[in-house]
Amino acid sequence: MMHRIVESELMEDEAQVIAYAEADFDTPHSQFIERLKAVINNPDFSGLALDLGCGPGDISRRFVEAYPDAILHAVDGSETMIRRGQLLISPALQKRIRFVLGCLPSAILPNPDYDIIFSNSLLHHLHEPLVLWNFIKHYARPGTCVAIMDLLRPDSKEIAQFMVESYAANEPKILQQDFYNSLLAAFTLEEIKQQLESVDLTLNVGQSSDRHVFISGVMP
Ligand SMILES: C[S@@+](CC[C@H](N)C(=O)[O-])C[C@H]1O[C@@H](n2cnc3c(N)ncnc32)[C@H](O)[C@@H]1O
Repeated sequence: MMHRIVESELMEDEAQVIAYAEADFDTPHSQFIERLKAVINNPDFSGLALDLGCGPGDISRRFVEAYPDAILHAVDGSETMIRRGQLLISPALQKRIRFVLGCLPSAILPNPDYDIIFSNSLLHHLHEPLVLWNFIKHYARPGTCVAIMDLLRPDSKEIAQFMVESYAANEPKILQQDFYNSLLAAFTLEEIKQQLESVDLTLNVGQSSDRHVFISGVMP
């Protein structure tokens, strides 16, 4: 098995952020929203949600479009990312998205708990993965819906390279490099299950594509 190689936690470089914000994530992001909808199981959801590591806010935007009465707090430790999100999302939708600049685990959020907590592609950035699970525990309450998607680490660098060529061939080099680094920094299904067990968090963990894991559940 290939060992994990960590990458930088925050994405702050302007060129990297622009390449990320302009990339085509339509397939994984729309699949994420469909899976999240199944966890929420209420098409009229009108509560307060939290997006951890929101980046330039593509999933944040899709969420508030899917739930026109919901409010979202979208957190990221990179000011460059948050500025990009504020630039890309329409003012009308931003009335329901509050961007919060803050770094896990020290970020202090506006609300003590949330009805929904979701995150895409944050876990593999964290040098210490339990930070995410403990943060979720802190801001959840009984009944909070949790949905986390991330990459899975392939067995070898060759497979990682093959995935870059298969899924990011038309993207700029900087994004291809980012994707490659992210695959090497990601966790395996077994590692994620162990992380959850060690913080006593009971969530479902399932592989959702050749390169994605989806972790979800409702807090007891
Ligand atoms: C790969 S991007 C994912 C962005 C977005 N969720 C998406 O799916 O498009 C990961 C984001 O997590 C942020 N991040 C990484 N470590 C973080 C931390 N410790 N606290 C807050 N944000 C963090 C990065 O700055 C980056 O914007």
